[in-house]
Order: sequence, then C-alpha cells, then structure tokens
Amino acid sequence: MRTERSMRAARIHRYGDASVIRHDEVPRPVPGDGEVLVEVAATSFNPSEVGLRAGLLRSLFALELPYTLGWDVAGTVVEVGGGVRTWTVGDRMVGRVDTGGAADYVVAAAGTVVPAPRTVPLAHAAALPVAGLTAWQAVYEQARLTSGQRVLVNGAGGGVGGFAVQLARYTGATVIATASRRSAGTLRRLGADQIVDYTATSLVEALDEPVDALLNLVPLDPRQAGALLPLVRPGGILVSATVPVPAPAGSAVRTTRFVARNDPDQLAGLVELVDAGVVRLDIAGFRPLAELAELHREAEAGRIRGKTILIPAGVTADAPH
Ligand SMILES: NC(=O)c1ccc[n+]([C@@H]2O[C@H](COP(=O)([O-])OP(=O)(O)OC[C@H]3O[C@@H](n4cnc5c(N)ncnc54)[C@H](OP(=O)(O)O)[C@@H]3O)[C@@H](O)[C@H]2O)c1
Repeated sequence: MRTERSMRAARIHRYGDASVIRHDEVPRPVPGDGEVLVEVAATSFNPSEVGLRAGLLRSLFALELPYTLGWDVAGTVVEVGGGVRTWTVGDRMVGRVDTGGAADYVVAAAGTVVPAPRTVPLAHAAALPVAGLTAWQAVYEQARLTSGQRVLVNGAGGGVGGFAVQLARYTGATVIATASRRSAGTLRRLGADQIVDYTATSLVEALDEPVDALLNLVPLDPRQAGALLPLVRPGGILVSATVPVPAPAGSAVRTTRFVARNDPDQLAGLVELVDAGVVRLDIAGFRPLAELAELHREAEAGRIRGKTILIPAGVTADAPH
C-alpha cells in the first residue's frame, strides 16, 4: 500500500535472471547523521548490474538481500541529516551510491556525492558516475596517458568507452576506437581519430603500428583478451576493466585489470569537464525505470549501446535545470 512515506524501489530478493527484478513498495529511507535524502531524477543502466543481479559478482560485492539496484543517481536533495553543512534542500546532485539509485528516493553519504552539472538536464547527469569514473581511472590512473601517445579503446561503443575516448582525446592522445556501425558515428563525434569496425576488420590488420596503451572494455574470454597483447608496443600497457589479461613471462607489455571505485573529487572533475563542454554525455535513450528488467534482457542479448537513462514514474527526463 502506498503511503506518504513510501516509495517504489527496483529490488532483487534473490539472484537469478531478469525476472527477479521487482518493483516493490517500500518505506522511504530516512537520512542519518552525515547523510542526505535525494529525490531521484534518474539512474542509469550499467551492464555490471546484470552480473550483480545474476550473482556472478558475489566475490566482489557482498549484497544484503533484498537489494535495491542502481549505482548511478542524479537528483535533488530533499532532506539533510544531522551535521551536514555542504548540502541544502533543493540542491541538485550526482553520485555513485552502493545501493538504491533505482528508486524514487535514495540516501547518500553527504561527502560521497557532488553538485550536478549546470549545463545539462539533471536526469542526463545520471550517465556520469560509474561509466565516467571507470573511464577516468582507466585513462589517468591506470594507463596514465600523455599527449602524443596512441591509445586503442576496445569496446568504445559502450558507456565507459564514450567517456574514455573523450578523456583520452582531452589528454592529447591519438585515439583509435573499435566500434560497429551503430556506434561509429557517435564515436567520431566524441573525438575518435580512427574507428575500426570490429565486426568486419581484424585489429592486427587495421593498426599501422602497435599502440602505447590499450584500454579493454569488452568481456572477452582470456584467450581472446590475450590476443590483444601484440597490439601494444614493448613498454606499453594493456588496461582491462573486464577480464584479467595475463602477460606471458618475459613480456615487455605491462597488463593490469582494475575495478573502479567511487571518488567524489574525480566525479567533480568530470562534472567540470561536462560544464566546460569538453565531455559530452552520449545518451542512447531514456526508459521508464519500470522497464529495468526488459533492459537487462536487452543488454544480455547485446542490444544496448552508449548510456541508457532510467526515469522513475512521474519524473520528466527533460525537466528544466
Ligand atoms: N572494472 C570496473 O570497475 C568496471 C566498471 C564499469 C564497467 N565495467 C565493465 O566494462 C565493460 C564495459 O562497460 P560499458 O558500460 O561500457 O558496457 P556496455 O555499455 O554494455 O558496452 C556495450 C558495447 O560493447 C561493444 N562491444 C561488444 N562486443 C564487442 C567486441 N567484441 N569488440 C568491441 N566492442 C564490443 C558494443 O559496441 P558497438 O555498439 O560498437 O557494437 C556495445 O555498444 C562491461 O563489461 C562492464 O561490466 C567494469
């Protein structure tokens, strides 16, 4: 039954296929000390949540069930908990939460979320946290790209890839992106210097020379991922956000796999780049949050590209900002 203090939340009560996602009526959370209550304008879809829902990421994330999905959140602060000085009611925020973005309201620790970009509608900002932070950490912390280097972004058509291409370009690197026809135009607009259609061309043939860095964003099997190694020059680096890519003994290519973490300073840096017009949000579509299970099925069938924004019932995606 709906009451004034209740809300809808997209939750899983057990691991399984997309049918385990339920839209439950639950009590609205109450912010504790150091927390804010946010009215959600949007969350966004991240494919890792498919693995989370299926129970494949249990070794990385210990979930308490029932668990509310949605790591990304953009919204408006509607209540502040004790001791919070940095937020007031009505502030627009964006952030990565550990649970709960796929709901009408979510509680966030005040210090872990940041003011939303001023130049895009609030709901669009939900595209930024997980994908943007993963790209930021791949480009700046793992690969440490510098101007003049050549980087290959493998799997650039996804949410992370769109940000990685733009950040790599911003460092002054030359960016080669793998993409099929459906994503090629977008990636050119986002700044890729060369597109390799992975459905039609072999990467070995497409590259004139090995790259300084390769960012792998495709969940390849380890053998396929290992085949990426010869594309990197000796002394270069292969960074994988998906599977580990072991380098054979004596290989002159460094390989690393990483799991992105929340970093509010980096997220604020991304917001600044959005407001400066350096980073654009590649939003492939908007869907009602009620269609989350269907979106999971589409992602599992490989039908999702870019970022999809999910809007709770009763919220308008293009609400004035
Ligand atoms: N390590 C971490 O902390 C972390 C964080 C976030 C995400 N991830 C993982 O990183 C991966 C990318 O995330 P995402 O959000 O960008 O995923 P995504 O949006 O699901 O990426 C989908 C894109 O992958 C491309 N793709 C599929 N197969 C490909 C292939 N064989 N070669 C090249 N491109 C291919 C497709 O591009 P086209 O449209 O061009 O066909 C598609 O648009 C996911 O596996 C995700 O789970 C890891």
